[in-house]
Amino acid sequence: MGHPHFSPENMFLGMIGSAVDITERQRMEADMAKASKLESLGVLAGGFAHDFNNLLTAILSNLYLAKLAIPGHDEPLKLLSDAEQACFASQQLTQQLLTFARGGSPVKTLLDLGRALEGWVQFPLRGSNVRPVCIIPEGLWCVEADEGQMRQVISNLVINAQQAMPEGGRLTVVCENLTMPNLDPAVPRRDTDYVRIALTDEGPGIPEEHLPKIFDPFYTTKAKGSGLGLTTSYRVIQKHGGHLTVQSPPGGGATFLVYLPASRALPVKADTSTPPVAAGTGRLLVMDDEASIRGLTQAVLARLGYEVDCAENGQTAVAAYRQAFRDGRPYDGVILDLTVRGGMGGKEALLELRAIDPNARVIVASGYANDPIIADFAAYGFNGRIVKPFRLEDLRQAALLLTAAQVQ
Ligand SMILES: Nc1ncnc2c1ncn2[C@@H]1O[C@H](COP(=O)(O)OP(=O)(O)OP(=O)(O)O)[C@@H](O)[C@H]1O
Ligand SMILES: [Mg+2]
Repeated sequence: MGHPHFSPENMFLGMIGSAVDITERQRMEADMAKASKLESLGVLAGGFAHDFNNLLTAILSNLYLAKLAIPGHDEPLKLLSDAEQACFASQQLTQQLLTFARGGSPVKTLLDLGRALEGWVQFPLRGSNVRPVCIIPEGLWCVEADEGQMRQVISNLVINAQQAMPEGGRLTVVCENLTMPNLDPAVPRRDTDYVRIALTDEGPGIPEEHLPKIFDPFYTTKAKGSGLGLTTSYRVIQKHGGHLTVQSPPGGGATFLVYLPASRALPVKADTSTPPVAAGTGRLLVMDDEASIRGLTQAVLARLGYEVDCAENGQTAVAAYRQAFRDGRPYDGVILDLTVRGGMGGKEALLELRAIDPNARVIVASGYANDPIIADFAAYGFNGRIVKPFRLEDLRQAALLLTAAQVQ
């Protein structure tokens, strides 16, 4: 906006006016348009993941029962285990969308990256001509992280590397302990030690002018890309107090650097032998609105030695618990589904159970690993959590946790 300015003699002196830089406003408008797209994606993802996880749980439970039915038959056992692995991978895919869409909070546990990483890198490369080389030093520190989300980040980076090398090549993954004085200037938070994972491919690299955009949602140069991989990864690492950056030197070959705050706690040595099917004892109540989940959870727990009753919503679970309590044959523990369509869910049911029996032992179950109640179950009064699709080992642990009070 402006207008001309003249002297008393009518001589043109110039223009007086103001200009507003609208770049920032345009950027904000573009951001808002992106945000509303993400919002609808989130709603879609939420509904989809719920049903999908229930189906996966049904598949996994059947696989487990099938495995138990054929002890000693190595070949079919191996095939069934492979099918299980594929189910877990499908679960990761749903979680990917959910994490991204809802920006969920990580469920952190002590994670020994040194042990897990090689498998995570190899998995997406199966059947491709990209060869992974993992360099993981002895004594790599652990991190406090959400295992599913970390796996997802690594898998996003590995898939990008593989897509950058359609003709094949090498993907080098180097892990390192980084103490504070040795941190790169790229790391914004400098008050902690880090574990750094560097993934370097042999692709063409990323042109300098694209570098500022690659972490933006929906930025993609691929015909079938969604442009969400790096956005999700960036958010996940950020939520873990870490940092994700990229280096792409002119000669080609991109390096993605993942920094995660180190934890000095020592990992518990994992027992790699298959756990024996422990003969559990105790009475459990399982509440889930999905009939197939109820049936299969019951079948699996029964196979482990427990006596199991089922309820399809919070109301019936509370009624069954009250009745059993009055009859002097209380349940040792209850597994409550968090969300029940058209009925009382886990959170409310827990309050009613505790009103009947303040010592009720209750585990919350959900397909939403990122739900705040799952992430922070103890703050909501639950004794434990279990995420669908249930891994059989998870169910076994859950049942042990519920019946542990008896042993003490
Ligand atoms: N290793 C790499 N080498 C070269 N370019 C890369 C590499 N990793 C990412 N990029 C560039 O960054 C863009 C964004 O990556 P991002 O993973 O977010 O999305 P995408 O791979 O295109 O799609 P999606 O991961 O959602 O399927 C890619 O389209 C590509 O242009
Ligand atoms: Mg990608």
